[in-house]
Amino acid sequence: MKKRILSGMRPTGKLHLGHYLGVLASYVKLQDEYDCYFMVADMHALTTKWNESGSIREYRREMVLDWLGAGLDPQKSAIFCQSDVPEHAYLFTLLAMITPVSWVERNPTVKEMIRDMDLKDNVNLGLLSYPVLMASDIMVYRAEAVPVGKDQVPHLEFARELVRTFNHTYHVDLFPEPQPILNEFQRLPGLDGRRMSKSLGNDIVVSDPPEVTAKRMMTAYTDPLKARKDDPGHPEAGCVIYQYHKLFQPDTAPEARIQCEQGCLGCVAHKRSVAAMVSERLVGFQERRTAFAADPRSVDRILAEGHERASVVAAETVRMVREAMGI
Ligand code: TRP
Repeated sequence: MKKRILSGMRPTGKLHLGHYLGVLASYVKLQDEYDCYFMVADMHALTTKWNESGSIREYRREMVLDWLGAGLDPQKSAIFCQSDVPEHAYLFTLLAMITPVSWVERNPTVKEMIRDMDLKDNVNLGLLSYPVLMASDIMVYRAEAVPVGKDQVPHLEFARELVRTFNHTYHVDLFPEPQPILNEFQRLPGLDGRRMSKSLGNDIVVSDPPEVTAKRMMTAYTDPLKARKDDPGHPEAGCVIYQYHKLFQPDTAPEARIQCEQGCLGCVAHKRSVAAMVSERLVGFQERRTAFAADPRSVDRILAEGHERASVVAAETVRMVREAMGI
């Protein structure tokens, strides 16, 4: 029998190239090896967007389309929405009883969110308990592993502590300790050289048409010492375009490097050709995405099927948890 894994993403916008080459590529690869549950974490989105939640549904649809375009296969994986499966919230309440407040207060990822979003005095109970809800997501499927990015590892460690506490307190062996599956892809730089992120405004959205990608690419950071085409460039000194080139077309990168250094390749031309490489890589993704999007009911249908599959496991877990806790 295949091991069960669970992962999720908050629906906060269209996915970018960093998601696509990182966590999404890893989801797609894991589909054959594991029994996969992929979840739209819309309740987690509410922890910070409770007062501007109007786009969550639209983002849910866009994100699922991005997943399908990337190659997530609803025949193989259960693709569903967190808030559709009430057992997540139910288990959350029960896990809250065994969670010391000091654990949530010291969680570094939550601290980071509070700092990055400048929330300080505006932290709701939901955000504070973010890791408990995430542990519920994982534990309600008794998942053995969780594909995540490095930033999520403290949350996963938190879930492992809750698993140990639960099993120990109630003398059961109900939950496996979930292991992280880190995608091996190194962080993709954004257009300004910092890590790619929607909130930093330096991202390349994978569902954007080639014209938009080309336009975005023109804003990329290149060697500031190369003002004109014939100036000698220093592509290794942080030029984002050269980094993308190495990633998307490693064979032709050395040649471009020499031409740039010798002043035979200008930044604008280089940007244009790298934009074409990126769009070329995304052709299959966009075709699949467009095909799913053409049927306005496809996403709802897939989420309903995923919900059904998820519910079976989730209900079984909750039954066992109630039994273990004596309620
Ligand atoms: N916190 C995750 C993120 O921001 C999203 C998430 C919610 C998740 N629940 C999860 C990831 C359970 C893995 C497992 O990316």
